Amino acid sequence: MSYTQTQLDKLGHLDIEVDPTLDLVAEITRLKKEKNAIILAHYYQESEIQDIADYIGDSLGLSQMAASTDADIIVFAGVHFMAETAKMLSPEKKVLLPDLKAGCSLADSCPPHLFRKFKERYPNHKVVSYINCTAELKTLTDVCCTSTNAVNIIESFPEDQGIIFAPDRNLGAYLIKKTGRDLVLWNGTCMVHEIFSNEKITKLQIRHPEAVLIAHPECEQHILDKAVYIGSTSGLLKFTKESEATEFIVATEAGIIHQMELASPEKTFFPAPPNNTCACNDCPHMKRNTMEKLYLCMKHELPEIILPEWVIEEGVASIDRMLEISAKAGL
Ligand code: 13P
Ligand code: SF4
Repeated sequence: MSYTQTQLDKLGHLDIEVDPTLDLVAEITRLKKEKNAIILAHYYQESEIQDIADYIGDSLGLSQMAASTDADIIVFAGVHFMAETAKMLSPEKKVLLPDLKAGCSLADSCPPHLFRKFKERYPNHKVVSYINCTAELKTLTDVCCTSTNAVNIIESFPEDQGIIFAPDRNLGAYLIKKTGRDLVLWNGTCMVHEIFSNEKITKLQIRHPEAVLIAHPECEQHILDKAVYIGSTSGLLKFTKESEATEFIVATEAGIIHQMELASPEKTFFPAPPNNTCACNDCPHMKRNTMEKLYLCMKHELPEIILPEWVIEEGVASIDRMLEISAKAGL
């Protein structure tokens, strides 16, 4: 869901100078306690935010935490669809997102009004949507999935059940390969995972022949074909901890490398180089959140995620079903 400037102003998009001498870590810690707030952070957040979070995780872990926390306020250091998911799972709680403009190119690539028409062409198909989609898209979805549980979710349907998979065509193609199911794919992509350069990765591999390429399934097929391991952010992190290799080329958003380095300080991690001249592969949406915005958002309890009741009522079943199947699978 994107907002107009007027809506942002109304919802409280804070644009206030923060005193540069303020000890933000101490202030945020104080506010957390004072307000019984929990900070949930995705692995793609900047390292300072990860360090102050109460829970750091992938999309599945964050949803599980949002569903089970007894905090009064959930501060979501992530992107809009993640905070919306938290609100749908815990509608009685206040859910804050430090910057309401922290969107997601993948979620934006599947506008619900167009998807509704697309879905009409397959009246007997079920819809599995990657959780990286808008709350409204979830109302058109039978079961959500994340990259950790996507195979389990697809395989929870009978083999002859037609399935539409939205919005990520790369994850969808990976799932077709992994499950052997004939999925109908929506043509969406993530701007971060489609910019990795095959050529630059090859050059990096020549310079570091021992380095193991690991990739997120949102990457394009030609990158996945070269990868030794493919997995969600938590899967990639686990792989680097358990692997005997000491050098890794990491084809996903670079924020995850902070946890990899903390867990395995003796190992070396190279961010997979992108196709452009920029030296980074940061998600511009994830990186909209800063310590200053986190502090302001906790202080003023704004911007808050507000969803229409019908969206929560009609959309939450797809997330609940995902959590149910994941719990059964021990995820
Ligand atoms: P996971 O957290 O499921 O690995 O997904 C990564 C992502 O793209 C989040 O935006
Ligand atoms: Fe969306 Fe890609 Fe950024 Fe994840 S990394 S929030 S999928 S744009």
